[in-house]
Amino acid sequence: MPDALALARDSHDLALRQLMELAAIPSVGTDPVHRQDMLRAAHWLADEMGTVGLQQVDILPTGGNPVVYGEWLGAGEDAATVLLYAHYDVQPARREDGWSSEPFEPQLRDGRLFGRGVADDKSHCVVLLRAVAALLASEEGCPVNVRFLLEGEEESGSPNLLPFLRENRERLQADAAIIADGGFEDPDEPLIVTALRGIVALELGVSGPVTDLHSGIHGGIVHNPAQAIAEIVARLHHPDGRIAVPGFYDDVRQLSTRERELLAEGDMSDEDWQDLVGAPRDWGEPGYSRVERTGARPTLEINGIYGGYSGEGFKTVIPARAHAKISCRLVANQRPQRVYDLVCDFIRTIAPPTVTPEFRLLGLGDPVEIDIDSPFVMALQRAYTLHWPGPAGFRRTGGSVPIIAMFSEVPGIPSVTLGFSTSDSGIHGPNENYRVDMLNKGIDTTVRFLQEIARGYQAGN
Ligand code: BES
Ligand code: MN
Ligand code: MN
Repeated sequence: MPDALALARDSHDLALRQLMELAAIPSVGTDPVHRQDMLRAAHWLADEMGTVGLQQVDILPTGGNPVVYGEWLGAGEDAATVLLYAHYDVQPARREDGWSSEPFEPQLRDGRLFGRGVADDKSHCVVLLRAVAALLASEEGCPVNVRFLLEGEEESGSPNLLPFLRENRERLQADAAIIADGGFEDPDEPLIVTALRGIVALELGVSGPVTDLHSGIHGGIVHNPAQAIAEIVARLHHPDGRIAVPGFYDDVRQLSTRERELLAEGDMSDEDWQDLVGAPRDWGEPGYSRVERTGARPTLEINGIYGGYSGEGFKTVIPARAHAKISCRLVANQRPQRVYDLVCDFIRTIAPPTVTPEFRLLGLGDPVEIDIDSPFVMALQRAYTLHWPGPAGFRRTGGSVPIIAMFSEVPGIPSVTLGFSTSDSGIHGPNENYRVDMLNKGIDTTVRFLQEIARGYQAGN
C-alpha cells in the first residue's frame, strides 16, 4: 500500500475536479434564494465525507444554514484529536460585477481556477477532505483523530454558531482546531497568521418625512435624509483618517517596539500595493504603516450607503429615509458590544435634529491573537518545509473568522490557521481564483501537517 503523501499526489486531479463540482453550486449563504443550493452543497460535502471513510457524518441543523459534521476517531484515545474547520458558504457574485466568465461555472485559465468561492473557501474544504482521505487510505494510516466542522454561515458573521457549539460541546472535543480559511501573500513564502481582527457590523437608518416627497414642492424645507446620512457618515472620521468616535481607541492594545519591527518586515512595497489595489494613493490613520493599519489597528468602514432613486434617468424625489451599512474591524482588547454602543451614541449626538437615526446590530465577533509558540504552529512550520524551503513568515491579517474566538471559549481549544489562497486570489471580488499548484501543495502540506501534529503530540506525552 502506498504512503499518504503518494496517495495525496495521486489525488491532485480528483481534487481539481471536485473543486470544480463544488464551486458550481451557488451556495451564497446570505441570500434566502439560495437555500436549496446551500443544502446541495452540504449534501455534496456529507457524501464526500462518507466516501472518504468518516463516521457519524451528519448535516446538523443550526438556527440558519446547517453545519456538515463527520469524524474519525480510529487513532485512539492516546492520539491527538484535531477539529478541521472550513466554510462552504460563499459571497454573492454576478457576471456583470466584472467577471470574465460565469462566477458559478468554474473555468480553468493559466493554471488557475476561476469561480466564486474557489479560494474562499471551497478549496480548503477539498484540501482538508483530500488530505484526510489520503491518510485514511495509506499504509501508515491516519495518526490523529479528526472531527470535521464545515460551516455555512461564515460570510454572514456566523450568527448561529455559538449556540451550536454549546449544544454540541461533546462531539467537538479536540486538542486544537485547524482553521482552513486564508492564504499566502506570495506563493513562494508560506505564512502563519498570528492575529485576526474582530468585527461589529450595523445598519444605520435615517428617516425624515413620513413618505417620499416631490422635490420641487418640498425641496428647501425638508432636510433630505440622503443628505443627512452623508453628513453623518462624513463625520465618523477626522479629515486625517482617524476615527472620530470618542473612546473608540481606548481599549486598543498598543504594539511593542519589537512587534512593530517584525511587522515592518512584512510590509508591501508601494509598487506592489499599487498593482494590487489601483487606488490613486493610500489613506488611513496617520502614524501607522499599512501593515499596522490592517493588522493591528481598528477601522470603521462604510460598506454601503443607499436611499432614494438610483435607477435609469432621474426622479425628482426627496426620499423618506436613507441607510448605511457600517462595520468596524477590531483588534485586541476591544469588545464589539462596547464599540457598537460607542458608535451609536456618537451618531445620536451628531445626527441633526431634523432627522431620526435608528440602529440595527448585524453581527459581532471578537478579535483573536494566536499563540505562535503552540506545538500546532510549530508542526505547521515543519510541514511547510515539504514544499517551501525557507521559514514561514508571521502575519497579522485584517480579515475576520468568527469561529476562532468562539473556539477559545467553547470547547476551549487553541486554533491555528491554514490556507493556500494568494493575495491575487481576489476573494469577495470579481474573478476570484485559486492557483492549481497551491491546491496540490495545500493537500500535500496538510497531510504532512497532521503527521507533524501527531509527532509533536507523542513527543510531548
Ligand atoms: N476568509 C475570510 C477572512 C480572511 C481574509 C482570513 C483574509 C484571512 C485573510 C472570511 O471568509 C471572511 O471574509 N470573513 C468575513 C467575516 C465577517 C463577515 C464577519 C470578513 O472578514 O469580512
Ligand atoms: Mn473565508
Ligand atoms: Mn470571505
